[in-house]
Parts: sequence; C-alpha cells; structure tokens
Amino acid sequence: MPALLALQDVSYAHARQRPGSAEFRLEEINLQIEAGDFCGILGANGSGKSTLARLCCGLYLPDSGEVLVEGCSTRQEENRRRIRQAVGLVFQNPENQFVAETVTAETAFALENLGVPPAEIRRRVRDTLDRFDLGHLAGMPPHRLSGGEKRRLSLAALWVLRPRVLLLDEPLSMLDSGSKKKVCGFLQELRREGTALLWFTSAFAEVAGADHLLVLEAGKTAWQGRPGEFWGEVEKANRWGIELPPVYEIAAGLSQSPPPVAGEEEFVSWLWK
Ligand SMILES: Nc1ncnc2c1ncn2[C@@H]1O[C@H](COP(=O)(O)OP(=O)(O)O)[C@@H](O)[C@H]1O
Ligand SMILES: [Mg+2]
Repeated sequence: MPALLALQDVSYAHARQRPGSAEFRLEEINLQIEAGDFCGILGANGSGKSTLARLCCGLYLPDSGEVLVEGCSTRQEENRRRIRQAVGLVFQNPENQFVAETVTAETAFALENLGVPPAEIRRRVRDTLDRFDLGHLAGMPPHRLSGGEKRRLSLAALWVLRPRVLLLDEPLSMLDSGSKKKVCGFLQELRREGTALLWFTSAFAEVAGADHLLVLEAGKTAWQGRPGEFWGEVEKANRWGIELPPVYEIAAGLSQSPPPVAGEEEFVSWLWK
C-alpha cells in the first residue's frame, strides 16, 4: 500500500519578485504521512510552511522530486480529481478559501463540482453544518461570520468531501481562546475518526500531540523527530522562530531537565484542556 501522502526530495523555488532580489527555495523535503497520522510542521514566518502546504495538495508542482497522494503524482492531470478529494487544504486566512454567497452554498460547492446528486448534496450539507455547529448560520454570507465561525466553515467546506488528510495552515491564528478550544475539539474528533492531520504552525503547543514533527528553517529541514524529543533542541527553538509553551520556557530557565510532565499523553491533555 502506498503512503497516504509522500514527499520525495521535493524542491521548489518561487520566482524572484524583482530582478536581483533573493530567491526563496524549499529544498529536498522528505515526508511520509500514513492514514490517521498527525504530523506537525514547525517554522517561523517565511520558513516555507504555506508553500509546502500548497505543494502537498498539488496547488504548486515541485521543480524536482515528487509529491504522491496514495501513490498518484500531483504532476499528472488525470490524478487531480482524486487528489482533490483525498487532500483538503485549510487556508491560513479562511476568507481566501471562500467562493460562495452563503454558508450552505459554500459547504455544497465542492459536492456540486463533483456532480453529486442534489438530494445527496442537501443531506450531506445538513449533516456537515450540524457537525460543525453552523446550522443556525446556514443563510449567512461567509464574510459576515466571526473568526471562529469562519474557521469552522473552512473546515466544514472541506470535510463535506471526507478528505483522508487535512492540511491545516496555521488553523488557530487569528482566533480568540474560546474559538481555539472549539476548533481544537473538532480537529481532535476528526483525528480520532482517522483523518490524518498535517498541521503547519510556529507554536509548539499546537502540535505537541503529533506523532511526528518537522522543523523548517529557511526552506530546509532543520530537524525531525517526536514531540517528546524536542526538549533536546529547546535551545534552537528561538533561532527557528518556534514559540514554546510556558512549561518548556520555565523548565529551561530553572534547570536543564525536561518539563515536569511524565509523557506526551499527559502533556497533551494538559495543553488541550
Ligand atoms: N507567490 C510567491 N512569489 C514569490 N515569493 C513568494 C510567494 N509566496 C511566498 N513567497 C516567499 O516565500 C517565502 C516563504 O513563504 P511562505 O511559504 O508563505 O512561508 P510561511 O508560510 O512559513 O510564512 C517567503 O519569503 C515569501 O516571501
Ligand atoms: Mg504561511
């Protein structure tokens, strides 16, 4: 069985903005995501997270190397439809994702594009709006929603296709703490049901429960490992532009020992409370 998502020596350069200006390159990224995995991509602003997210779903094509979704290359036109159903990109700014006039139309959009019969669309949209607690907002224009509601709609509009992996580009940025908790709750639920998550962020706490982490520094892989092993790298977190949870900062300031939590599970339950 091929991996759900595999990046093999993926390199990509953005065209120079102006002649002579520095060129940004993502270099030889390798990554493998299996069904149900939770992987965190950590990096500062400008390290290449959003570029990598776009490569993972075929919005950008690699200059060299391959992005394979269930063994199908994003380069091949004939794989596009299948890849679009399997991989959902949750944009950093939900406004950039919205295309329709109402919450209902936004949630129905992808299904209409795939030619799903109208009765089936209505049923799936209703279930999806209920699930993300958006039913009472069905007729609202997306741009009128609150930050948390927009984020939930951006998830709902993808979830309606039952993607097998969600690419989450800084999904908690711009949310207040109440909305963060609610969105985290939905994401945890999706994960429990077997959706793989690839979560791009600069905040370690958001991905402390991941199976695997990759740190991007100026387009290159600076480190890979499990969240529990990150303690060994804590001194580099600053250079990498990664925000640490207070418990790490405090422990680092007091001594050289790991934070006062027994294991990842305990750490995560503490974080997500
Ligand atoms: N469309 C583009 N054209 C040229 N340069 C870009 C483009 N998009 C992003 N960049 C540059 O690529 C670098 C990485 O950007 P990005 O992937 O958005 O990083 P991050 O999401 O980690 O903040 C930045 O220096 C940015 O200015
Ligand atoms: Mg970004």
